[in-house]
Amino acid sequence: MGNDAALSRSGQGGSLPNWGDVIRPDHIHGSLYTNPAVFEAELERIWRRTWVYVGHESEVPKPFDYVMKSIGPEPIIMTRGRDGQVHLVHNRCPHRGKHVCVVEKGNARSFTCPYHGWSFDNDGPIRGMPFPSGYDGVDRDLLGLGKVARVASYKGFVFGSLAAEGPTLEEHLGGAKYALDALCNLSPEGEVEITSGFLKHKVRANWKFLVENETDGYHPAFTHASIFEVAGSRIAELYGSDSLCVARDFGNGHTEMDLRPEFRKRDEPMSWFGTSAEKLPDYVARMNAAYGEKKAREIMIDGSPHIMIFPNLFIAEIQMFVIQPISVDLSVQHVTPLQFKGAPDLNRRLRQQTMGSVGPAGFLLADDAVMYEGTQRGVHFTNPEWLYLGRGRHRERIDADGYRIGEITDEVTTRGIWSHYRSLMEAA
Ligand code: FES
Ligand code: FE
Repeated sequence: MGNDAALSRSGQGGSLPNWGDVIRPDHIHGSLYTNPAVFEAELERIWRRTWVYVGHESEVPKPFDYVMKSIGPEPIIMTRGRDGQVHLVHNRCPHRGKHVCVVEKGNARSFTCPYHGWSFDNDGPIRGMPFPSGYDGVDRDLLGLGKVARVASYKGFVFGSLAAEGPTLEEHLGGAKYALDALCNLSPEGEVEITSGFLKHKVRANWKFLVENETDGYHPAFTHASIFEVAGSRIAELYGSDSLCVARDFGNGHTEMDLRPEFRKRDEPMSWFGTSAEKLPDYVARMNAAYGEKKAREIMIDGSPHIMIFPNLFIAEIQMFVIQPISVDLSVQHVTPLQFKGAPDLNRRLRQQTMGSVGPAGFLLADDAVMYEGTQRGVHFTNPEWLYLGRGRHRERIDADGYRIGEITDEVTTRGIWSHYRSLMEAA
């Protein structure tokens, strides 16, 4: 696994590697994070091909509501049409390419391009252009906003695929769907709401470092030791070598840290949130009324999932992150607190905790950002050129549902991400 001049050159020079040469079962080559040609190929084979999370239906509750979103680096507008349907259109004028929508969110029946004034219905078709005689004889149907080829939602989570064909959203989500179901069950009304706005954190790191980190159960005890100590948190117990929690690879690049075994051992409702049922009496009463005491208790013990839905949606118990690649060494994480419909007292605390952990002066995300940026700097250097991700490979096993699992600190998740990545990159 020593120095490999040919691979080093591909890392520097921008040519595409043979994927099997740079992705091995327990090693990957550092150039995968630095090679601009690899990044361009990822845009083509991952971001413009698979299902990518875009937004949540609750962000556009009324007809003509819209919000600016993205699929990879590409700007997208999520809108709700007159018919109540959610649409995804490209935020790029068909005339000369300008963004047609420049205000982050709002309610508009149409968008007017600021450059030469072409206007478009909020689901894409062109409405008009100034001095129209200049377009006599032109087929206007060809001059609307581009539409995202496929749009589908699951439990209010809206995904888009820029490829006209491929697996359905449900096939893509596979076993990871359970996490979105579990999340909605935490609402007495069975729905998540994304209503608190987003913070955007720019990170000088390749997007894959972020994806890997989200379900890396090895780092919290070290990277986040200071916040766990200051907050008197019991989270560190979950990520220790004696933890019963499990790292799981769902396939299709989706991975999770399943924390339920430890929460079930504690047998304390709301322990997942670092609190108790007594501190949230209104929420508990609403949950009991909605699900019955037995089922409500189970839901409140299991808590919220910790899952990375490939390639860009990370549910981190109390908040949601959306990962956006900008260039080979620049990414943005869009962060918002999860909010549960019909749970005002819980929601208030979710917002406060989110500000404390991933807000502008939050403790948690800053810890992680130092690590992503440090690893990004590190992979530019050689000797060794390879990264090792073999932790716990000898003790991987298959769970009752057929998914590969390991101990919470094992890199079964990272290996799962790279295995799927390789299959996508090889499917040229
Ligand atoms: Fe939009 Fe000209 S670029 S109208
Ligand atoms: Fe972390």
